Amino acid sequence: MQNFVFHNPTKIIFGRGTIPSIGPETILWGKKCLLLYGCGSIKKNGVYGQVFSSLKEAGLEIVEHGGVQTNPLLSHVKEGINKVKAHKIDVVVAVGGGSVLDSGKAVCAGSVVNHDVWKFFTGKKSIKSTLPMTAVLTLAASGSEMNSGMVITHDATREKFGFGHKLLFPKVSILDPEATFTVPMDYTAYGAVDAIAHVLEYYMTTKDPATPVQDRFIEGLIINAMDSCDRCLVNPRDYNARADLMWAATLALNGMTGAGLGRVGFPMHMIEHSLSALYDVPHGAGLSVIIPGWLRWHSIVDARKIIQLGSRIFNFELRGIEPTSNATVKILENWFTRINSPIRLAEFDIPPEDIPLIAENALRLAKIWRLDQYSRETIEGILTLCR
Ligand code: NZQ
Ligand code: ZN
Repeated sequence: MQNFVFHNPTKIIFGRGTIPSIGPETILWGKKCLLLYGCGSIKKNGVYGQVFSSLKEAGLEIVEHGGVQTNPLLSHVKEGINKVKAHKIDVVVAVGGGSVLDSGKAVCAGSVVNHDVWKFFTGKKSIKSTLPMTAVLTLAASGSEMNSGMVITHDATREKFGFGHKLLFPKVSILDPEATFTVPMDYTAYGAVDAIAHVLEYYMTTKDPATPVQDRFIEGLIINAMDSCDRCLVNPRDYNARADLMWAATLALNGMTGAGLGRVGFPMHMIEHSLSALYDVPHGAGLSVIIPGWLRWHSIVDARKIIQLGSRIFNFELRGIEPTSNATVKILENWFTRINSPIRLAEFDIPPEDIPLIAENALRLAKIWRLDQYSRETIEGILTLCR
């Protein structure tokens, strides 16, 4: 167990009928809000109406900034920052999935400085203050609702960089599983893959050989993410399935699973971000392609945790399966296919000739995230296993 400080300041309001709390919770942080949302899903499923009337009833003035795309763009964040400054906004309300919540965090950070907000993502500037943000989550995946991270794509350079700072935690996030009833099957599946990837990154990259508490916690979250995803795909309006998936995804990346593991890396994310940046691939779909390839590459150097994972969550002994890393990867791959999440670059029509281009793009993030052992050749090697 390594030394750690665990401090997560985000208040979570979880459950059916909780969205009307957004107004009373937001007025505590400001009087004039920027209401940030995506490309229309919240208007179709009624979340927008609930949020808008709650903010109004609480006495907030509202300036809207819709149109956040999946794999959110820096240009849209900058338009939001301009609106905040022009209208003297003092709190941001983000209503949507991880793309919307991440954009909200970037707007909060960029609105209190005069320099380009992108400088935070390249490490050229550090955050000293931010506007407060409140959130209503409508898709179980990223964990952004309870963490201090944000991921934005630079329109021109096609760099998709993630940045975290303790001042970026949402003040409060409202998680009503009913808001996710309308999430389509593909994004339901991609969200489960993303949550699994978050804990896999911790599980596989910690250098500490003895982390039984974290291992069992992570194994349990993977089992629940897979099981609840399966139940959601059978019945998208299964409240308990949606609630289980939503809470598992939040717990996967709110800092709890990584506490005590010491320094870890997010290499699968480092590579996936390039697929999303260059080809606009949904984040979770990109991960279901990268995960098997990365695990196969990792098993060459250290198969121990992959075998442990497989033995514990796939019950090899009970099923008379030879406990090997390949068996673990194969079962995981088969599940990805069963939930219609891709497992090969070819499924995105990405040709093998693009691998050097993708590796070149990923290398830039590897440098910023100080993943020094990932050379261009190493990344190309991993991508070759994902073809
Ligand atoms: O734009 P709208 O109309 O809202 O449609 C969205 C979008 O098309 C739709 N959607 C969301 N909630 C819905 C819904 N459709 C119907 N009913 C609902 N209730 O789903 C699509 C995807 O939404 P998006 O927000 O892009 O998905 P997700 O939540 O998976 O977020 C992905 C983003 O999160 C980042 C990723 O990089 C990606 O940009 N991540 C953020 C992290 C963090 N902050 O810690 C870590 C993660 O690893 C991840 O990188
Ligand atoms: Zn992710």
